[in-house]
Amino acid sequence: MGSGNGWIRVGSVADVPAGESRAVKISEGRSVALFNVDGRIHATDNQCPHMGFPLTRGVVKDGVLTCDWHGRSFDLEGGGCFNYECDDLETFAVDIRGDELWVQAGDATYRRRDQHLQLLWEGLLSGDSWTISKATALLLSGGVSEHDIVQLILRHLGRHVASEQDAGGGGNIVSLLVSGLEVGRRYDGEDRLMALSLAGRAASGRASERLEVITLPPPVSWEQIDGWVRMFSRNMQDFRIERCLHTACENGQEEHIFKLLFECAVAPYFLGFARNVANLGDLARVVDTFGWGEASELVCNLAAKMVGRGRDEPERFHRDAVRLLTDLAPDLESHDYTGNTRTDYDENALVDALLSVDVERSFGAVAQALKDGVAVERLITTFVLLAADRMARTPVNVDAGWGSLSTEYNLAASLRHVHAYGGPAAAAKGLFHAAWQIFDNRWINIPARALDEPLPEHTSDAPDAASASERIVQSIRSLDIHGVGDQVVGYLNSGFDGSELLKEIGRAILWDDTNMELLPTLRVTFNEWEGASGGSGHPSRYQLLVGLARYATDVRLNKNSMASINTAMRFSEGRTTVEVFDE
Ligand code: FES
Repeated sequence: MGSGNGWIRVGSVADVPAGESRAVKISEGRSVALFNVDGRIHATDNQCPHMGFPLTRGVVKDGVLTCDWHGRSFDLEGGGCFNYECDDLETFAVDIRGDELWVQAGDATYRRRDQHLQLLWEGLLSGDSWTISKATALLLSGGVSEHDIVQLILRHLGRHVASEQDAGGGGNIVSLLVSGLEVGRRYDGEDRLMALSLAGRAASGRASERLEVITLPPPVSWEQIDGWVRMFSRNMQDFRIERCLHTACENGQEEHIFKLLFECAVAPYFLGFARNVANLGDLARVVDTFGWGEASELVCNLAAKMVGRGRDEPERFHRDAVRLLTDLAPDLESHDYTGNTRTDYDENALVDALLSVDVERSFGAVAQALKDGVAVERLITTFVLLAADRMARTPVNVDAGWGSLSTEYNLAASLRHVHAYGGPAAAAKGLFHAAWQIFDNRWINIPARALDEPLPEHTSDAPDAASASERIVQSIRSLDIHGVGDQVVGYLNSGFDGSELLKEIGRAILWDDTNMELLPTLRVTFNEWEGASGGSGHPSRYQLLVGLARYATDVRLNKNSMASINTAMRFSEGRTTVEVFDE
C-alpha cells in the first residue's frame, strides 16, 4: 500500500474478483470496502453508518448496497442512505493504474458536522438511544463543542416539553439534562460521553407543532405581569402565565422572572410539590448556561406549567400545614434577613423538631431559628445533611424509600438556588416545604439521631486510597448494601480524598442501568460535597457519600450499559463492529 496526493494504493485489481468484495485496512481503526460490480471497482467506507457492521458482508444489487445486519441500504456510487436515522455512507474515487488499485480516501478531516447534527436531531425525535449516543460520539470526536451539541438538544427539548409534556414529566427531563451536564463536567472521555448521552436520551421524544405564543399587546408593565402571574398561579391557569412570561421576555424583563417564579413556587398551597422547587432551580441553571435566547421557549412553557399546575383539595395534615404556612407567610415576607448571619445554633433541637412527626412543632422550630437570626444557607445545610444522614441510615430490609428520600435531599439542596435567584424570603419559605417533605416521609422507619453525634471511628484496612476506593466500588457492584456504608466511613476516616471516591462512585453509577434514576442525586452530592455541606467541617458531612453509596448499591441492576457507549466510542473512531468485538 502506498500513498500520494490523498490517493492510497490498496492492492491490485486481481485482489477483488468479479462479483466479490474485499476490505483493506488503511489506518488504525479505518478500513475501505472494495466491490467489483459489473466490471467496475467501487470503494466505500467499510463501516456501516448505522451501527458499524462491515459493509463487505453486505449485498449489492442494482447499484444499491444493503448492510447485512439491519438492512440499511446505500447508493453504492454516491453513498446516500435510503433509511432514517442513518448517516450517508462515505464513498471514494477509484483509479486503476496498470494492475494497481488506488482509492482517494481523503485526509480523514472531519467534514460531516451538519449531517451528524441532523442525525442527532433524528435520534432526539425518535428517542433512539443508539442514534443519540452515536451522533454525540461522532460530533465530539469531530471536534464539535459540547456546548453546540447541547444547544441542539435544548432546542429540541423546548418544543418537546412545550408540545408533549406536563409539569412533572418536563421537570424530570430538565433535571436529567442539567444533572447530565453538571456531572459530565467532572469526567473525560467515555464517562463524559455517557453523562452527555444520558442527558440527550432524557431530552428525546416527540416534538409536535403548537400554536405560537404571542406577546400581550403593549403597554404592559412588569408590575402588571408580576401581579397577573401570581393571580394565575393561585387560579391554576398555566397558559395565561406562559403568555405573561413570554411577554416579559420580549420586553427585556427577564432578570425579574426567576424571583417571581420562585416566590410562586414556595406559596403555601404548593406544599407537597417538592419537585416544582427543585425543577425551577434546574431551569435557572439552563438559563445561566445558555441564556434566555436559547432557553425562553422551554422556560416560559415549563415554568408556567409548574406554577400554574392543578391542585387537589389538601387532606388532613396537609391542610393543617398549608394553614400554618399561610399564617407564617406575612412575617416571613416582611422579615429583615440581613440580620440572619448566625451559623452556631442549637441544630439538634431543630432536627429533633423536624423528626417529631408534629407539623406544628416542626414549622415552629424553623420559624424560631429564622427569628433567632440563623443564616438561611446554614439552615439549608442542616436540611441537606439531615436528608443525607437519613439516606445513610435508612433500613433496606423492606422499602428503603429511596424515591422519597432522594426527593427530600434534592429539595433541600435546591433551596440554594431558591436563595440565589429568589432571595432569602423565598428560600425561608422553601425551608417549610423541606420540613413538610420530612413529615411526609414519616412512613420511612429511620431512627432519630443527633446530627452532631460522631460517626464510627474505624479506618480502612486497605493499603492505600486507590485500593480502599476500589473495594467500595466492588461493594456497590456486588450489591453489598450492608458493608458499603462502613467502608465509605472507614475510607474517609483514613484521611483519603473524598472527592476522588465520589468520582469513582459516580463512575459506577453512570455505567449502570439505574443511571437515570440516580443522576440528579449524584449531581447534588457533587455540588454539596464540593460546596457548603462538604466544606462545613460538620460531623455528619461524610453521610453525603455514605447515603449516595448505599442508594447506588441498593437499587443497582448490574445489567451493564457499557456496551452501547463503548461501541459508540469505537464507532466514532471508524472501527467496524467486527473489529470492536475482536478486540
Ligand atoms: S444496518 Fe448496518 S449496522 Fe445496522
